[in-house]
Amino acid sequence: MNKLMQQHRKRFGDFEVIEFVDESEIAKLRAKTDVATPLTLNWTWEYGSEVEELRALYEKGKVNQWNAERDLDWSIPVSNDEWVLSPEASMLAQICRLMGKDEATQKAAAFDELGHTLSQLLHGEQAALQLCGQLTNVCTKMDEKWYSASQVADEARHLEAISKFLSRKLGTIYPINPTLKILLDELLAADTARKKTLGMQTLFEGMAVGIFDLLRQESRNPLLTEMIRRVEQDEARHAAFGVLTMRRAVREADKTEMDEMEDWAFGILEALNANQQLDMLQTLGPKYGIDASNLTQATLGMPNWAELNSLIYMHTVLPNLRNLGLVTERTESQYRKLGMLYDRGDRATTVPELSLIA
Ligand SMILES: [Fe+2]
Ligand SMILES: [Fe+2]
Repeated sequence: MNKLMQQHRKRFGDFEVIEFVDESEIAKLRAKTDVATPLTLNWTWEYGSEVEELRALYEKGKVNQWNAERDLDWSIPVSNDEWVLSPEASMLAQICRLMGKDEATQKAAAFDELGHTLSQLLHGEQAALQLCGQLTNVCTKMDEKWYSASQVADEARHLEAISKFLSRKLGTIYPINPTLKILLDELLAADTARKKTLGMQTLFEGMAVGIFDLLRQESRNPLLTEMIRRVEQDEARHAAFGVLTMRRAVREADKTEMDEMEDWAFGILEALNANQQLDMLQTLGPKYGIDASNLTQATLGMPNWAELNSLIYMHTVLPNLRNLGLVTERTESQYRKLGMLYDRGDRATTVPELSLIA
């Protein structure tokens, strides 16, 4: 299997990381704003409902609409004098503390890191908007088209809320990470409806639910908490669409197609994991005297690294892939070796996917 971004890989001990160091190359990636996407538009003349569960999801979406301007209290202040997230939630703040820096510096580092994370989520939201627009074209059932169209409106609202939060409250929108840009382009340019759904709705929506959920749990700011709570409710519907649609797709797929989907999902997630926050550390590390490569090597050596690293993956995306039969003996041990799959006894294997439909 060919790994993504082969030319950016290097070994840190047993682990292969993806690292971008050439600033002009990163600038070029960001400047590449046109992406050619193969897209076969599909007409359907069946206007009645054919997939009841999707129609139900569309109905849920209609009653759960909200207004990012009116339904959030934008008068609540957000400042880098406060812990916007609990201190443990910020990798940079923890490192600053270990380096003996004062609390004001730790708070500033946490504030920057939050801005960076939310900025990457914002770019991901834009990809979701674009891809969901594609789904309204490529999907073959009217229920899928209606549902996708409703999600396009959800994603526009997420872009509105998060970009306003960043510009009004944090003051900066960080540019997209090079690794993320390449992976999102890969998803947006996928050549079949099945890959588009798997990539965006199952992989990226699954990751987004995990990240948003962890952020909300750690948030100490009521505006941030409420914004994430509302976005998450929508995202849960989106991830549910991915699971429902993929469940139908895997029922119809033969062994070769199943292997192809499993490999593709693994390839994307493996590359995401291989970056190990290096893109973020290269952007923000120097400001706080932190060397990205040194820190990442130290992190990879921690005894509980896999347990921590797997949190995001084990939240939604891997349990969903497992339920779909897209983690088999072909990839399971690799996910485990890469610190992504980690069974923690009690909440071990499954997040029951339908509980996602809030
Ligand atoms: Fe979204
Ligand atoms: Fe979404």
